[in-house]
Amino acid sequence: PPTVPLLALVGQVLVLENGLLRRPPMGWLAWERFRCNIDCEEDPENCISERLFMEMADRLAQDGWRDLGYTYLNIDDCWIGGRDAKGRLMPSPKRFPNGIAFLADYAHSLGLQLGIYEDLGNFTCMGFPGTTLDKVVQDAQTFAEWKVDMLKLDGCYSTPENGPRGYPMMAAALNATGRPIAFSCSWPAYEGGLPPQDTQVNYSQLAEICNLWRNYDDIQDSWSSVLSILDWFVDHQDILQPVAGPGHWNDPDMLLIGNFGLSFEQARAQMALWTVLAAPLFISTDLRTISAQNMDILQNPLMIKINQDPLGIQGRRILKEKSLIEVFLRPLDNNAYALVFFSRRTDMPYRFHCSLSQLNFTSSILYEAQDVYTGGVISGLRTETIFTVIINPTGVVMWYLYPVRQLGTRTSMNHNW
Ligand SMILES: *[C@@H]1O[C@H](CO)[C@@H](O)[C@H](O)[C@H]1NC(C)=O
Ligand SMILES: *[C@@H]1O[C@H](CO)[C@@H](O)[C@H](O)[C@H]1NC(C)=O
Ligand SMILES: *[C@@H]1O[C@H](CO)[C@@H](O)[C@H](O)[C@H]1NC(C)=O
Ligand SMILES: *[C@@H]1O[C@H](CO)[C@@H](O)[C@H](O)[C@H]1NC(C)=O
Repeated sequence: PPTVPLLALVGQVLVLENGLLRRPPMGWLAWERFRCNIDCEEDPENCISERLFMEMADRLAQDGWRDLGYTYLNIDDCWIGGRDAKGRLMPSPKRFPNGIAFLADYAHSLGLQLGIYEDLGNFTCMGFPGTTLDKVVQDAQTFAEWKVDMLKLDGCYSTPENGPRGYPMMAAALNATGRPIAFSCSWPAYEGGLPPQDTQVNYSQLAEICNLWRNYDDIQDSWSSVLSILDWFVDHQDILQPVAGPGHWNDPDMLLIGNFGLSFEQARAQMALWTVLAAPLFISTDLRTISAQNMDILQNPLMIKINQDPLGIQGRRILKEKSLIEVFLRPLDNNAYALVFFSRRTDMPYRFHCSLSQLNFTSSILYEAQDVYTGGVISGLRTETIFTVIINPTGVVMWYLYPVRQLGTRTSMNHNW
């Protein structure tokens, strides 16, 4: 069978040993869609409140999301009301009258997990009380007492000295609570995301203390934002691709699907590209009103199977054509692959001719592919077979490619990871 040399590398990385997030996390995260809307008088249905999270929990449980793996219900900024006399964090009493433990119980009763947000600095990004170094242990204990399952620790109002002390300290404090709490670190995003220009971004260290990390800018509700994030991840794939794996993921930020900025093709493209990058799948849209078409994109079972592949290898862009067609490849379990044919064109559907040998497949294996969106099967793919995919402007064609049988004797795979 084709060999994937990268695997050897991944196996050697020392990683966080909390046993969590062996697959990229999936769930719902409030920020991109609901931001810091705290006006519950004017907008009770959409303000950051207990009601919003309970309603999203209901939708996750009842509309098929949870059963497909979307189990995290994650709070972002703007939930904090202050600290009590003992310095313990308190949620806004008006907006979370029953407290966070109540919300965690509610999530757990529906088979979901609750994520929460804090910031390693004087304030959160929106100006609520942050977790200063002297509060790290206390806040970790508070989250564990509330039975929280994930913590996103942001980096606003912090200093360059805070990160190297605070993020490892929080990882240790979470561990010391005895409660398994997945840890999402925004640290690299505040340090430029890249070694070695800034010595603070040390992905070996991050993999030891964090389950996922935000490397780059916040996503906004537009195609240009998706492209800027994709470009950054692809430009730096030689650095970023090897550092991801089971238990420790790069996070290009939330899915926009269901909101206002993406066309149908662009929504499909973000889903396919995030999946091939082994990205966390955090939906951030209103699940009460999402269209059937957008649900189909987010609930595609083969897509999710690929995203959640047990090998946890992040894909790469392997081809960039003058025609503005790009090809991404992600190696999967059972000698299968995900292939994404992505068009940056803005004219009309493009007929892209290609063969597996052009993609450096050199094995004498007969492959078959399933189109992830249409379900159609393309059979009889030998390495030299010329095939045609028709890719819509700013859209993708995505294949799940799997071996059917061996044709010859010697096989090898020549991918230069
Ligand atoms: C955080 O607050 C402390 C105490 O008021 C202050 O000395 C420090 O400069 C602040 N740090 C930042 C990054 O604002
Ligand atoms: C804490 O860390 C130890 C050693 O890495 C690990 O075995 C244990 O499962 C961790 N516990 C939690 C709750 O994360
Ligand atoms: C990066 O972190 C690893 C693991 O903690 C450590 O062994 C290594 O020395 C660090 N590298 C740099 C350049 O600081
Ligand atoms: C195929 O392999 C060659 C030689 O290693 C390399 O230059 C080329 O970029 C590869 N192409 C793809 C599509 O992987």
